Amino acid sequence: MNRSHHNGELRIEHENTPVELIGWVSKKRNFGAMNFIDLRDRSGIVQLVFDESFNDALKEVRQEYILHVKGTVKERKDKNPALPTGDIEVIVDSFDIVNPAKVTPLIIADETDALEDTRMKYRYLDLRRPIMQNRLMERAAIVHSLREFLDQHYFVEIETPVLGRSTPEGARDFLVPSRVKPGTFYALPQSPQLYKQLLMISGMERYYQFARCFRDEDLRADRQTDFTQLDMEMSFMDENQILELCEAMLSKLMKDVKGIDIPTPFLRITWEDAMNRYGIDKPDNRFGMELQDFTNLFADTEFVPFRNAIDQKGVIKGITVDDFQPSNKEIKKLTSDARKNGASGLVVLKYKEGAFSGSAVKSLKPEELEALKEASDVKDGGSVLLVSDAWLKACTALGALRNDIASEKGLKKKDEFSFLWVVDFPMFEWSETENRWVSQHHPFTMPKREDIPLLDTDPGKVKTNAYDCVLNGYELGGGSLRIYEQELQDKIFEVLGFTPEQTQQKFGFFIDAFQYGTPPHGGLAFGLDRIAMILTGSDSIRDVIAFPKNASARDPMSDAPNTVDPIQLDELELAVCVDPEERKVLESLKSGTLPLTLSDGSQIDVSLDEIRAWKEQK
Ligand code: AMO
Repeated sequence: MNRSHHNGELRIEHENTPVELIGWVSKKRNFGAMNFIDLRDRSGIVQLVFDESFNDALKEVRQEYILHVKGTVKERKDKNPALPTGDIEVIVDSFDIVNPAKVTPLIIADETDALEDTRMKYRYLDLRRPIMQNRLMERAAIVHSLREFLDQHYFVEIETPVLGRSTPEGARDFLVPSRVKPGTFYALPQSPQLYKQLLMISGMERYYQFARCFRDEDLRADRQTDFTQLDMEMSFMDENQILELCEAMLSKLMKDVKGIDIPTPFLRITWEDAMNRYGIDKPDNRFGMELQDFTNLFADTEFVPFRNAIDQKGVIKGITVDDFQPSNKEIKKLTSDARKNGASGLVVLKYKEGAFSGSAVKSLKPEELEALKEASDVKDGGSVLLVSDAWLKACTALGALRNDIASEKGLKKKDEFSFLWVVDFPMFEWSETENRWVSQHHPFTMPKREDIPLLDTDPGKVKTNAYDCVLNGYELGGGSLRIYEQELQDKIFEVLGFTPEQTQQKFGFFIDAFQYGTPPHGGLAFGLDRIAMILTGSDSIRDVIAFPKNASARDPMSDAPNTVDPIQLDELELAVCVDPEERKVLESLKSGTLPLTLSDGSQIDVSLDEIRAWKEQK
């Protein structure tokens, strides 16, 4: 089937050129003697003109039919400046129908009111919409730019296994049962972390991979179960060299894909500063409303929530919002949001005509209000929002409010790109549920040399050579320098509460490799889907992934996940527990004993063998 041009590339220079085109019917119009069809392919749309001799043949043609057309390019009388091909049209000499189409369940156009589930069920049609095709093409251009940079900078692209052992990224694994060794499982990689470090031990020096990663976690607009990382690892480079290399890569990317010059070096802000000023470890600094510390103003306060916070060595922090006079209903919502984010409460003080108003005003002294006015620099018509709590809780709650208010006020401009690094992350955080220190990044992260003595005395204060790259409030990527000395690695596992046996069992092959001349190394991984989402101005990473999962981790098109043939289960020696009662029973068995109440009210304890026998009978 011949094709002389792509539809979207025809211009006035092609006037009088004979052309042969293929495409889908996007629109069909009839004006008396003349018929018009907008013919669409991946490159765009061109207007076809048919004279009345085609009237009968065209009766058969409907939207989304594929046509093959021969004709000649002519200048249009009524130009359409909104269309790149708007100066010309193609006068058709002959056409044939390549393939008809049923009426589509969604309109193939940029604007759609189709529900997301419909779009996902008919994803192949959703992807036919030009806006979606452009997103996928921009994603491909992003990959091309990144790959070009890395290939020019001594990196080698290497693939690592998808079926492997659990990796320590901290999310839940997807497991794949082994048929060859029933009862054992592969874990899909949450990232290629261990493999890429082993490649440094292998002497590859600079590695990258566009790696598919799998994490069984609750999905959000910027999270998928299966996603793609640009994963990188480098030997013999310090933190600064790694960050500089990434800055060069990202500024080339922004130039290639968006035509924008991004200033380097990027802003670098410590984790502590980020929390203190923005209340989040991925600050969006496209807008102000930074968190302020007002603790000193209230040293002698009698206002109970503030007094309590100060007595318990907490803080009183706040944000000042211009043009913001929330109603009582809005204040209730803000307070409940602050509570959801961990604060015990929220004080809202509205400022108008030289005075504060709000339920806390009567409990605060005039000099406290005066000092707050000065320190916050609140303007007429603005408000100050205050949280008194432990430092991290107060920061986190205000950080979330700051982000929400900025979204509502339209302060997050999609065409503004603000890159920054958050550095010096803490090594550990205390897990209330596990009652032990857990790694904030992963256990191979290098602690700051000067903080190593704190591993014995105050692990919570140990900072690391870990860094996150942030763009417009999204965590775009993260990584760290790695530990390459055995003794230090052992110490970290000790702080994490692992016995040497547990360490050996979990990471034995990895730790062993470190004894054979490990180069100092470090790296990071960027979320490719997130880069594509932000650069294409999309609201969800689902819009830049060809076949994503919906919010409940399902694919409505292929209906995955789904049940499998019992024969497949049998080969794997697996049984599926589908009966909710049965599931409850097995759940309880995990914790040891299983008390059962019989229908006559009596209680018995049953063993796993008894349950199995009962199940078989059933
Ligand atoms: P981390 O877990 O921070 O680090 O992941 C790196 C980047 O991957 C992206 N990302 C995701 N994107 C979409 N959906 C998800 N569920 C998802 N989870 C993570 C984010 C994130 O910044 N091995 C380390 C990197 C290293 O230390 O070198 C790692 O995976 O953009």
